[in-house]
Amino acid sequence: MPATQPTPELRVAPSILSADFGCLSDAVDQVAPATEWLHVDVMDGHFVPNITIGPPVVSSLRRHSELFFDTHLMITDPGRYLEPFRDAGSDGCTVHVEVGDTAALCAQMRDLGLRVGLAANPDTPFADIEPFLGLVDLVLCMTVFPGFGGQSFIADVLPKVRQVRDAVTAAGLPVDVEVDGGIDEHTVEEAARSGANVFVAGSAVYGRDDPVEAVRAIMEAAREAVAAPAGGPS
Ligand code: DX5
Ligand code: ZN
Repeated sequence: MPATQPTPELRVAPSILSADFGCLSDAVDQVAPATEWLHVDVMDGHFVPNITIGPPVVSSLRRHSELFFDTHLMITDPGRYLEPFRDAGSDGCTVHVEVGDTAALCAQMRDLGLRVGLAANPDTPFADIEPFLGLVDLVLCMTVFPGFGGQSFIADVLPKVRQVRDAVTAAGLPVDVEVDGGIDEHTVEEAARSGANVFVAGSAVYGRDDPVEAVRAIMEAAREAVAAPAGGPS
């Protein structure tokens, strides 16, 4: 059963959405000492109301960084842009299950050599993700409604996080479970205890005086939460 499986590697993925877009490469350098992943939020003004960045910015950042670019595509037509993002330097792409055509998009990402991610909005049920668990490397459970940084963590998503973790563990699938939205050194604890192992954090990293220290504090809180679950022995 799930409890006997090894704990997946914990990591924090700072989201540059909360950085100063006037000096993005500096923002990437700021967190590089503390992490191997960078979360890149792509928004198209259709799937979400906001518009952020596209392949040219990823391409520019790629020349400044060797971090893993975890590219979150909050866009209506990701199939049209997967290859441009791959060519620009994205390492993994995550598409939303709500846009449909999921199996074909997963196959397209795989063929392009991208790490394959599938995201679900807070009100999208586990049943919508479950058929695709064998096709993906990462499941992203949104803990806010996508579109903007700085929103409050929605704890109601955590039972779904647990369902995803238990399902991939039971199936022996090496799938990362990522949470995104409202993650800080406090909310990360229950997310980690629910089985998440990748923690996206924007404002809790770039909104702090010392982003490296902020990443480390979130990591440490996650490690401690997994080592000593709430209610268990300390
Ligand atoms: C929201 C984005 C998140 C966002 C998280 O639509 O997908 O990645 O940057 O920002 P915080 O950590 O501030 O909630
Ligand atoms: Zn994101």
